[in-house]
Amino acid sequence: MPIPFQLFDTVSSTYTYLLGDTGSKEAVLIDPVLEHAERDAALIQQLGFKLIYAMNTHMHADHITGTGKLKSLLPGSQSVISRASGAKADVYLDDGAVVKFGQHELLATATPGHTDGCITYICHKQGIAFTGDTLLIRGCGRTDFQQGSPERLYQSIYSKIFTLPDNYTLYPAHDYKGLTATTVWEEKKYNPRLTKSLEEFVEIMKNLNLPYPKMIDKAVPANKVCGLY
Ligand SMILES: [Fe+2]
Repeated sequence: MPIPFQLFDTVSSTYTYLLGDTGSKEAVLIDPVLEHAERDAALIQQLGFKLIYAMNTHMHADHITGTGKLKSLLPGSQSVISRASGAKADVYLDDGAVVKFGQHELLATATPGHTDGCITYICHKQGIAFTGDTLLIRGCGRTDFQQGSPERLYQSIYSKIFTLPDNYTLYPAHDYKGLTATTVWEEKKYNPRLTKSLEEFVEIMKNLNLPYPKMIDKAVPANKVCGLY
């Protein structure tokens, strides 16, 4: 598996990741965005990959997932999300489940806190992890809606992500400043929220005063059914 193909949505600043096994040509897509389903499908076809799983790290509130549309564009692919997300999909993952494509595998690791159903996908062989909104570059997902809990988020990051080797590359679901990836070492050392104590972290998260998400009333109902509504 090469470095993941990192695709971007400028509206929601979402990263979508294409991972392909060059031998078997099996591929997976993490966090596709509805409006870019055609782009993603065209890239997969051009590269000669066969999409087997269109996966989400969690039930998003800021954009509609492309998993349902990709299933119709690339027949044979299946949608994947955690069981704890409460969303519908073809395949449900519990903590510790393994997603296989070709000779590669992603370990689905439950990292609740931003939402109940957040998953971090870890590929130990490559030393990479896809953290969704659990851990962002020098930030983290908000915890003020969708069953958010700053205590759980802190616990998830410390027990499941900061325990990975320092050199692991972390790929987030979003970045709003143009950064593309980070490492466990960088976030342990420089994340302005996660370098604080649990008590300080909870205070920070409770006082962010973020605006109500623009897309949430449309995105969450749609994302319960793979973006097909
Ligand atoms: Fe999110």
